[in-house]
Amino acid sequence: MQFQNTLEFAQKLDAEDPLKEYRDAFHFPKVNGKQVIYFTGNSLGLQPKRTQEFVDEVMTDWAQLAVEGHFYAKKPWWDYHERMAKPLAKVVGAKTEEVSVMNTLTVNLHFLMVSFYRPTSKRYKIICEEKAFPSDQYMFQSQVKFHGLNPDDAIVEIKKREGEHFWRTEDIVAKINEVGNELALVLIGGVNYYNGQVFDMKTITKAGKSVGANVGWDLAHAVGNIELKLHDWGVDFAAWCSYKYMNSGPGNASGIFVNEKYLNKTDIPRFEGWWGTKKESRFLMKPEFEPMDNADAWQVSNPPTLSLAPYLASLTMFEEVGMKTLINKRNKITSYLEFILNEIDRQVEGSFEIITPEDRGCQLSVLLHGQGRPLFDYLMKNGVITDWREPNVIRLAPAPFYSSFEDMYRFGQILKKGILKN
Ligand SMILES: Cc1ncc(COP(=O)(O)O)c(C=O)c1O
Repeated sequence: MQFQNTLEFAQKLDAEDPLKEYRDAFHFPKVNGKQVIYFTGNSLGLQPKRTQEFVDEVMTDWAQLAVEGHFYAKKPWWDYHERMAKPLAKVVGAKTEEVSVMNTLTVNLHFLMVSFYRPTSKRYKIICEEKAFPSDQYMFQSQVKFHGLNPDDAIVEIKKREGEHFWRTEDIVAKINEVGNELALVLIGGVNYYNGQVFDMKTITKAGKSVGANVGWDLAHAVGNIELKLHDWGVDFAAWCSYKYMNSGPGNASGIFVNEKYLNKTDIPRFEGWWGTKKESRFLMKPEFEPMDNADAWQVSNPPTLSLAPYLASLTMFEEVGMKTLINKRNKITSYLEFILNEIDRQVEGSFEIITPEDRGCQLSVLLHGQGRPLFDYLMKNGVITDWREPNVIRLAPAPFYSSFEDMYRFGQILKKGILKN
């Protein structure tokens, strides 16, 4: 499509947008009395208006029923999380029984590493991307040390090539083959938080499995953003948070995927708790653990209903719309943003560079040349909510549910003014 950098053109795209009604289904913060241009759905998604209802329902049931709410609330609390597996499975390309919701992301990755990182004296190495999200780096280091191993030896980071801003699949596959039978686990962020790159999860998973390793994915920036086929790709496990593109609120619960081949097993190493044991016998308070026959076997504690309520609210929207429609809008709006950025860059003579490769979701990471924090501060003061990553990257993520094409056009105008001023 031939884009134009005009308000009329942007408004025309909005008029054709099948998701246009959803913009009004979210609360937008205001700056200077005006609704912001929100680019940080990759950090914290906006609050859906319907979330309040879901939270109020739990609060009312708690007030009126107290402990009886576990079984007699409108949506009983003891199995509240079970309502989420089906819609979430569609978002991540899994079977319903392979998905559960519990804890938070890093906690879940630790729990899953208990099951899927089982180092031996020969096979003990972990492959990850260089400069993985810091929480993942701390997790790898502490897991490796927990097993009495040396992080410098056991953690193998895939580097980008000199002068390049992205990872090459062939380099990752080559490293997997090189580490070969010393490789215990491949665990990478499916979409990189810094440059927005989407990894070729199918190819990398296949490569990891072919040398006998387990393969897991941190899907924090992938879930609700890109097409996932965790089951078909043969992924062993994955986890994601729900507060970014899933719009379920700050620090909220995490989803997990465990491949069906590990379900219904009593011999799999796992840290266990009472919510992982069979529902039918849970309250018999028996000493034996009988795992649930789905990913809920990894549940440890009883579900945090008040935080699951916003997640469930958000999932009703994903159910209504579906990933296909979201991805179509994502492609169009991200391409339009890219076009606007290139137009402005031309007009201000090469002040920045998009470092996100073609394999991307909705995030574009922009490396500033000669511009710095003052530009970021200018954007924020003028109602463009974006984020800054050291040393000089601005991340822009137009979330397809609520971002408009007009936002992209207006952002371009503010950006241009900001660059010329700073
Ligand atoms: C890629 C990635 N991994 C892990 C985390 C940590 O998430 P949590 O604080 O929910 O454990 C984040 C948080 O933004 C992230 O972006």
